[in-house]
Amino acid sequence: MAAFSFFLFITAISTLLSTSTSISTLTANQNITDGETIISDHEAFKMGFFSPTNSSTNRYFGIWYNRISVTTVVWVANRETPLTDNSGVLVLNNNGTLTLLNRTKHVIWSSNSSESGNNPVAQLLDTGNLIIKNAGDTNPDSYVWQSFDYPGDTFLPSMKFGIDFVRGINKYLTAWKADNDPSPGEYTNRFDSDGYPQILLRRGSEVVFNSGPWNGLRFSGMPNLRPNDIYTFGFEFNERELYYRYELVNNFTVTRMILSPGGVIQRFIWIERTQEWNLYLSAQMDNCDRYGLCGPYGVCNINENQACGCMRGFDEKFPEEWRRADWTNGCVRKAELDCAGGSDGFVKMTGLKLPDTRKTRFNASMNLEECERDCLRDCNCTAYASIDIRTASGCLIWLDDLIDVRVYGENGQDVYVKMAASELHSKAKAKMKVRIIVIPVLVGVAVLLGLCLFALYRRRQKKKGVTNLVRATNFAKENEREEGELPLFAFNTIAIATKNFSDECKLGEGGYGPVYKGMLVEGKEIAVKRHSRKSKQGLDEFQNEVQCIAKLQHRNLVRLLGCCIEEDERMLIYEYMPNKSLNSFIFDERKRKSLDWSKRYNIIIGIARGLLYLHQDSRLRIIHRDLKASNILLDKDMNPRISDFGLARSMEGSKTEANTRRVMGTYGYMAPEYTIDGIYSTKSDVFSFGVLVLEIISGKKNRGFRHANHDLNLLGHAWRLYRNAKQLDLIDENIKSSYVQSQVNRAIHIGLLCVQKYPEDRPDMPLVVVMLGSQIPLPEPNQPGFYTERRRPQEADTSSSIHEWSSSNRLSVTYLEPR
Ligand SMILES: *[C@@H]1O[C@H](CO)[C@@H](O)[C@H](O)[C@H]1NC(C)=O
Ligand SMILES: *[C@@H]1O[C@H](CO)[C@@H](O)[C@H](O)[C@H]1NC(C)=O
Ligand SMILES: *[C@@H]1O[C@H](CO)[C@@H](O)[C@H](O)[C@H]1NC(C)=O
Ligand SMILES: *[C@@H]1O[C@H](CO)[C@@H](O)[C@H](O)[C@H]1NC(C)=O
Ligand SMILES: *[C@@H]1O[C@H](CO)[C@@H](O)[C@H](O)[C@H]1NC(C)=O
Ligand SMILES: *[C@@H]1O[C@H](CO)[C@@H](O)[C@H](O)[C@H]1NC(C)=O
Ligand SMILES: *[C@@H]1O[C@H](CO)[C@@H](O)[C@H](O)[C@H]1NC(C)=O
Ligand SMILES: *[C@@H]1O[C@H](CO)[C@@H](O)[C@H](O)[C@H]1NC(C)=O
Repeated sequence: MAAFSFFLFITAISTLLSTSTSISTLTANQNITDGETIISDHEAFKMGFFSPTNSSTNRYFGIWYNRISVTTVVWVANRETPLTDNSGVLVLNNNGTLTLLNRTKHVIWSSNSSESGNNPVAQLLDTGNLIIKNAGDTNPDSYVWQSFDYPGDTFLPSMKFGIDFVRGINKYLTAWKADNDPSPGEYTNRFDSDGYPQILLRRGSEVVFNSGPWNGLRFSGMPNLRPNDIYTFGFEFNERELYYRYELVNNFTVTRMILSPGGVIQRFIWIERTQEWNLYLSAQMDNCDRYGLCGPYGVCNINENQACGCMRGFDEKFPEEWRRADWTNGCVRKAELDCAGGSDGFVKMTGLKLPDTRKTRFNASMNLEECERDCLRDCNCTAYASIDIRTASGCLIWLDDLIDVRVYGENGQDVYVKMAASELHSKAKAKMKVRIIVIPVLVGVAVLLGLCLFALYRRRQKKKGVTNLVRATNFAKENEREEGELPLFAFNTIAIATKNFSDECKLGEGGYGPVYKGMLVEGKEIAVKRHSRKSKQGLDEFQNEVQCIAKLQHRNLVRLLGCCIEEDERMLIYEYMPNKSLNSFIFDERKRKSLDWSKRYNIIIGIARGLLYLHQDSRLRIIHRDLKASNILLDKDMNPRISDFGLARSMEGSKTEANTRRVMGTYGYMAPEYTIDGIYSTKSDVFSFGVLVLEIISGKKNRGFRHANHDLNLLGHAWRLYRNAKQLDLIDENIKSSYVQSQVNRAIHIGLLCVQKYPEDRPDMPLVVVMLGSQIPLPEPNQPGFYTERRRPQEADTSSSIHEWSSSNRLSVTYLEPR
């Protein structure tokens, strides 16, 4: 009885099994006609004939999800040859091939399985894989043919994406032509095994995106590919096969990866609650993922205003093209390699996506030191890197120009780029410079004042006999001025240089004292700013200026050579600028003629660079607060130098704005928020810069501008002309014959952007410099601040510009707090 029951039980089980398998399989000579379907054992997938949405006539044989409300096709047999009616039949032949026949029994698609089957069976698996195998073959891994070897646009879990070297099959994705057209589109995404394997996405034959080579954790160009709760992934590379595969962590999740008709690699996850496919990630993230955007030796950094830059040790090949955002020609070495001489070395670049690996060779068992030696020996080697970043092992060697590099930061990896010895050197130098600029401003102030005072003390002790000696030592120091102190000049030295401060040497008189021209005994010309003995403000400005400018070095900033502190004397010694100030040129009937457009344009760009340096590159943000034509000095080649740091303020770190109750600056150049509320920031300097640009172009002063038709000031006038598309009427008569229209238009436009009323609307200096140097589209400017002329009673003549000899018009307003 028990035996009989057991027999019944077994029969029931086997009946159950046979019915369930019979649904998912097709045996020899069986066929599926249009309207019939086959469903996998656990009903995950279904196959049969279908028409894509919105395409009622074309019929295809394919596989789609069975349990998802949105019909989502994952594989199509006859992609290129649709059936035009409902008469299609899929037959499993005796010899183990699947053929798709049309009404006239013509074969329009065939599985082309080579090994002739022996009592073949076709089965749709729960993975979405359609396999053909021999009925007697119980090995689950053996098959005669499988649809996973011929994917369409969809990469499913447990599919091997890659190359089967043994059978010579490359399993890659081909996009659909359109959402409703499964025929092969333009885009393909496949492993390329030239050099170290990487996955290249092509449009036709042109590479458009590189996922990069596998680095042990992920593909180098897919920083988003991270361990997650949904799927695990891995990479295999040996003599027999090369593939990438992912597996579901649990089979309740439904996810697929596709190559979209538009050429984007996307992963979707089915959301049961909303009954929708949710885009989980796209492989291509931004512009920097466009293959080779920055050309050979270019580096793309999406966080920069201008995405492309050159690798360290490289220069733009055609700077003109770069300025027009045409980067494809990339960069060239500053110094050629000297392979035979053996003096070359490597620069380690970190945080990168690896360059294209098609022209590489590799050896997984080498370590990094062996790799370096190997690269050094091979004159064709341009760079090396490790293959597996987990263990920093393996050796990958580039044999051609490095292309398609981008910056990822912490998700990137190290590349060692071969470099001529001279470039290895210059890197060390550059590092030093940064330190020299930054540290002295922070620490230097105290040191500096201490030094000055110490010297003063010594001087008092020893009286005048030693001053020449001190001067000499100080001068020796000045030439190698790297260590943080400002050279100290003896009073006598300056007195001799300025013929005892004679009127004949006087260049002018600023608010806080006179300025003299001098000549040192060795013939060097200097300008001496002598601060008034009495004025407390004079002393404040003196200290401030010393603090701010002591260690700033930029070719568009005036250079402070030293100071002199003796008894109650406070003097600053600058290099002498023979061409005096911009003021004395652009507002002078006669001299302005010598400033043609190219010189003026050069001056605008120079001021912008100098200001950029103050605002950004000098680490401590320095806000000048008194930028005006008379504070722009011109060297002998008419290059602008920003001067007079008496009112400058530095700001630490991320702070960008500050408030003062003592508003000081120059009327006509001050931003509204500063004049009215005492708020200064880099943006108030930008305002002043904008005023300068418009003054340089027009040759007119903003303050005191007069026009017959209106009582707007220069800013209002420029804005009005711009709004009427007549901005070229603004330009100075004297540059009518020399100006470049596109440059002038752009400069006026940028000037107006800088003088906008609200600081947040104004561009910052990095952007201004980019705008000036490129063709990027500019936003429309809003209304300028202070565009009508108003007189303020508080105006006072208190300027201390060193080269401003005539009128000075610095404004000083003190806001008193009510008690
Ligand atoms: C499909 O199968 C049916 C029944 O098994 C048979 O009558 C028909 O001829 C077959 N069609 C083809 C094209 O083999
Ligand atoms: C899900 O996975 C479990 C365990 O691996 C397996 O027993 C079950 O059949 C799977 N279900 C489907 C629908 O594949
Ligand atoms: C089908 O057509 C409808 C209406 O024209 C459109 O809204 C829908 O997006 C189309 N679907 C596809 C897959 O093209
Ligand atoms: C298998 O059989 C079909 C139909 O009989 C035939 O068209 C096809 O050429 C055969 N294929 C091979 C590889 O023998
Ligand atoms: C069947 O396919 C053949 C070859 O592609 C073609 O010549 C024929 O017109 C098709 N018949 C029908 C009814 O579509
Ligand atoms: C299968 O088709 C591919 C191209 O579609 C062809 O290169 C290959 O030789 C075919 N294999 C067989 C066994 O017919
Ligand atoms: C790879 O490097 C190892 C260790 O240096 C060496 O023994 C081996 O021959 C190299 N293989 C190839 C193919 O060069
Ligand atoms: C370097 O490259 C050139 C051209 O591709 C090739 O002819 C030469 O053999 C290479 N040299 C080495 C050492 O690989």
